[in-house]
Amino acid sequence: MLATTIASSITISFLFCVSFFLLLCSSKNGYALGGGERKTMQGHFHTFQVNSLLPVSVCNPSIKGYGKKATLKVVHKHGPCSHLSLDEANAPNVTQILSEDQSRVNIIHFRLSSNSAQNNILNSSKATLPVNSGASIGTGNFIVTVGLGTPKKDLTLLFDTGSDLTWTQCQPCLVSCYRQQEPIFNPNESTTYKNISCNSAECTQLTSHAGGVIKRCSNSSTCIYGIGYVDQSYSIGFFSKDTLTLTPTDVLPNFRFGCGQSNRGLFGGAAGLLGLARNQLSVVSQTSSMYQKYFSYCLPSTSSSTGHLTFGKGGTSSALKLNFTPFSRNSKNPSFYFVHITGIKVGGRKLSIAKSVFKTTTSIIDSGTVITRLPPAIYSALRVAFRQKMTNYPMTKGLSMLDTCYDLSNNKTVLIPKIRFYFQGNVKVPIYPTGILFGHSVSQVCLAFAGNSNASDVGVFGNHQQKTLEVAYDVTGGKLGFGIGGCS
Ligand SMILES: *[C@@H]1O[C@H](CO)[C@@H](O)[C@H](O)[C@H]1NC(C)=O
Ligand SMILES: *[C@@H]1O[C@H](CO)[C@@H](O)[C@H](O)[C@H]1NC(C)=O
Ligand SMILES: *[C@@H]1O[C@H](CO)[C@@H](O)[C@H](O)[C@H]1NC(C)=O
Ligand SMILES: *[C@@H]1O[C@H](CO)[C@@H](O)[C@H](O)[C@H]1NC(C)=O
Ligand SMILES: *[C@@H]1O[C@H](CO)[C@@H](O)[C@H](O)[C@H]1NC(C)=O
Ligand SMILES: *[C@@H]1O[C@H](CO)[C@@H](O)[C@H](O)[C@H]1NC(C)=O
Ligand SMILES: *[C@@H]1O[C@H](CO)[C@@H](O)[C@H](O)[C@H]1NC(C)=O
Repeated sequence: MLATTIASSITISFLFCVSFFLLLCSSKNGYALGGGERKTMQGHFHTFQVNSLLPVSVCNPSIKGYGKKATLKVVHKHGPCSHLSLDEANAPNVTQILSEDQSRVNIIHFRLSSNSAQNNILNSSKATLPVNSGASIGTGNFIVTVGLGTPKKDLTLLFDTGSDLTWTQCQPCLVSCYRQQEPIFNPNESTTYKNISCNSAECTQLTSHAGGVIKRCSNSSTCIYGIGYVDQSYSIGFFSKDTLTLTPTDVLPNFRFGCGQSNRGLFGGAAGLLGLARNQLSVVSQTSSMYQKYFSYCLPSTSSSTGHLTFGKGGTSSALKLNFTPFSRNSKNPSFYFVHITGIKVGGRKLSIAKSVFKTTTSIIDSGTVITRLPPAIYSALRVAFRQKMTNYPMTKGLSMLDTCYDLSNNKTVLIPKIRFYFQGNVKVPIYPTGILFGHSVSQVCLAFAGNSNASDVGVFGNHQQKTLEVAYDVTGGKLGFGIGGCS
């Protein structure tokens, strides 16, 4: 009976949902620039040892950002610092990573476009995927480990500021579970586990504004959720409550999450997903009495380093200065974190574009999108400025949506222009060298930015550009903080 209910939900979710999966800087396939940076005399260029492009197979954890509050270690899901090794053989290559990244951005654009209120199959050229208005956008590529239940069981989850619902695979896996590294959570073994019933107020949270989560109650008295991602990955199961343990001293009873009975996807062996969007279902909202909707993270520069995710103020070292830009209001989607980009400098020079172009641009910051997307006019100007400063190096063919690529195989060291973003409030954010380029071999290294095809689409400040920055989300205070050197 239950399985039937769930099975019919699967059909529904197949129709409505899309799936998503990506990673970057896989130790196998995507190398990121790391290390080897020195300031040049000019000050407007980074110097690289090109061989620092080669992947590192040893984990060098960053010691920054620990010790104070509720802090979790963040690592890239593939790479030497991750203990999830199950899916390494199936790790997507750089082309797949970029194509999945484009799918995620297409979904973001669709969810924010004016006609997305219609609850029907997407009919535009933007995406060939069948999508409903609330389709979820993806799974992110950084992982953290939390405890669930009593006694607690450790679960490694992908964390994503673009998703609201937290879920994990659950026994007895009535329909199916994919392979995961840790034992699958068994509600029977937790003394604090509770089902949420269909007629409770908590169950209705699953509907409106829940960022792509579908609710199915039918005749079962247990509230059922379903969520799908961009490549036919999904999780469907019981909407439940149990104790969430972030750290030994940060324990949250009655945390609401999805207990997945039908799960499919390439989640890299992770047990599920940790939703950090701004809506009421997210961890951020559910922990608001403990942390006042404040969290911060630092994404490591390479997959061989570690970062952190910290809940609450005071987790950031006082030595680290944060500059805050206001979140902009956007009624179209209460889940995403909107910010305003006001300018960009390349090699010390502001892009010469009319201020009005930036003024009319809305952007979001997202932990799950890899490559930063800009309105076409801004991206063109950035590309021109970057190419002008890179004429010493031979260009080569493009890589997916990246159209400014270089063959650096003949050069031991290279000089690349610094790039700095400006956010509202004159907040200057220098992009770490790792975030300027993206490539899979020294013979094809590309500028790691792309243009939107439609000037009216939102920009996305992606995770490749956020690396090593301390990024602090003060949701209650309505502002986003950036600090330099939150991790390495
Ligand atoms: C990536 O994988 C896809 C599918 O397996 C394959 O078609 C493509 O050629 C690969 N690309 C690269 C750059 O290896
Ligand atoms: C999709 O486009 C076709 C033809 O352009 C149109 O007939 C159809 O009504 C559209 N469907 C939706 C759901 O908008
Ligand atoms: C949980 O306990 C019930 C009742 O004892 C049992 O029928 C069921 O098989 C158990 N489920 C799992 C996943 O252990
Ligand atoms: C939760 O609900 C499911 C489906 O109704 C049921 O099989 C399971 O035993 C329930 N678990 C608890 C702890 O109530
Ligand atoms: C659900 O309940 C309705 C009305 O009570 C009934 O007609 C239907 O057959 C039930 N469906 C299932 C799957 O039990
Ligand atoms: C890079 O290598 C090419 C080919 O060997 C060489 O001509 C060029 O001068 C080098 N550029 C720099 C900036 O070192
Ligand atoms: C760009 O988006 C707007 C608003 O969604 C739409 O009206 C317009 O047709 C789109 N333009 C193109 C070229 O797709």
